[in-house]
Amino acid sequence: MSAVLYPGSFDPFHLGHLDVVEQATILFGEVIIGVMHNPEKSFATFSVEQRIAMIKESVRHLRSVSVQEFAGLAVDAAISAQALCIVKGLRTMSDFEVEQQMAQTNFTVSGVRTVYVPCSPALGFISSRFIREIAHYGGDTSAMVPNAVANVLQATYPPRSKK
Ligand code: PNS
Repeated sequence: MSAVLYPGSFDPFHLGHLDVVEQATILFGEVIIGVMHNPEKSFATFSVEQRIAMIKESVRHLRSVSVQEFAGLAVDAAISAQALCIVKGLRTMSDFEVEQQMAQTNFTVSGVRTVYVPCSPALGFISSRFIREIAHYGGDTSAMVPNAVANVLQATYPPRSKK
């Protein structure tokens, strides 16, 4: 069976992402997590190397998952990785609208298809943006990220002292 590509900026990788990866391994077998640049997010909090290291540690229990950096277009990454399709996670209707436009554009320009994986209901509220924001102010994000990511967040942003 071919691998599938799960592209994203993963800044940082969280439990919702991990859920999509785990579901994709059940559905497709091999999953390549593609760490990419999102042109709409000009500055990443973590370097590509940091993000890859955190993700590798977070998916250590999944034998059929690999992590790679890709530059450029997601469809070119999928073609160069010989991926069967792109996989994306869906949390909300607003995710669907954005993802549907990207999926249709990607298919039109390359023939690469996108398959959506609905996230588990208990994890649908999690977003990298709010994790970054809460961590920045010393808040506790450990319920939303794998341990490997929690450790890096705590080292980067010391927790606020409790009164
Ligand atoms: O985790 P994100 O930030 O939602 O991931 C978005 C990402 C990186 C998958 C998207 O920005 C992307 O595909 N970037 C590569 C550039 C590209 O292919 N653009 C064409 C979009 S139709």
